[in-house]
Amino acid sequence: MSEPVKPISLTQFLIEQQRERQHINADLRLLLEVVGRACKAIAVAVGRGALGNVLGNAGAVNVQGEAQKKLDVLSNEILLQANEWGGHLAAIASEEMDDPHLIPHRYPKGNYLLVFDPLDGSSNIDVNVSVGTIFSVLRCPEGVDEPNAEHFLQPGSQQVAAGYTVYGPSTLLVLTLGDGVYQFTLDRELGSFVLTQRRLRIPEDTQEFAINASNRRHWDPPVRRYVEELQQGKEGPRGKDFNMRWVASMVADVHRILTRGGIFMYPVDNKCRDKGGRLRLLYEANPMSFIVEQAGGAASTGTQRILDVQPQGLHQRIAVFLGSKNEVERAAAYHAEAD
Ligand code: AHG
Ligand code: MN
Ligand code: MN
Repeated sequence: MSEPVKPISLTQFLIEQQRERQHINADLRLLLEVVGRACKAIAVAVGRGALGNVLGNAGAVNVQGEAQKKLDVLSNEILLQANEWGGHLAAIASEEMDDPHLIPHRYPKGNYLLVFDPLDGSSNIDVNVSVGTIFSVLRCPEGVDEPNAEHFLQPGSQQVAAGYTVYGPSTLLVLTLGDGVYQFTLDRELGSFVLTQRRLRIPEDTQEFAINASNRRHWDPPVRRYVEELQQGKEGPRGKDFNMRWVASMVADVHRILTRGGIFMYPVDNKCRDKGGRLRLLYEANPMSFIVEQAGGAASTGTQRILDVQPQGLHQRIAVFLGSKNEVERAAAYHAEAD
């Protein structure tokens, strides 16, 4: 559900946001344009696939202990190189880097911090299923010239912008500046993102859920109860049938929910409890939660609003329940009851 739209480019949209609505300043506008441009370059690389020699492993392991794919490394490089020279950033953090990347001294520094998951859904790269990029923009604390990891540890409610791209049948950019959610589609001939949906809204109710059900035996009781009730369908306490989808690219799963509703879950379970969860707070959970809330949905850890969580580490992981409001609230209520 969304308002119809006149076709304008991302550039024009951002200029209008700056000029008429004063939502953003020139630096933030440049930052978002540059991120958009970098994502176009990633879309080209993803699209070339085997022809571009971008499939398969890079041969290194990242700070998460996960084998890096060539496209993880390449996407990270593209985003870094595009963003470091423009003068709009103080530092950059990424899933693929242990520590923040400081802006080289030869370039001017700006007031924003950029954090991203350069390539989300890495396990889908080699099988030609949708992948994406997720990003979040924070303010650099005042008086800080050389930001370190600590300066990125801001609750998600302090994000000034967040977005993701999906490299799917078409390449999409979904963006929030804290005043609704906007969707742009890449016009491949023109090479520009064109506004195609304004003020996206997530239906409050849904009959679709997304969870990696292979982890069922590791789940905590409230998650088991919630999902079992969904699976019981018409005959169970919910009195209606639910359908299940799991792409295993968060961007694709969240994008489906933004388009037609649903609940996405990656709970903390016995398999990932020692790590705090599966998904990362700063560059997966927070930007997605900001977008989902801006579209009228909800995002919870099960016990707390995700955007209120005070991060403890750059690569901290967390439980995620997000999407259609009434379902997220029900899942949270089951956690509260279990307590
Ligand atoms: P990434 O490729 O950036 O490491 O993220 C993968 C994440 C997320 O996109 C997805 O929802 C989840 O991992 C998939 O987990 P499973 O492998 O358990 O399905
Ligand atoms: Mn990811
Ligand atoms: Mn990733």
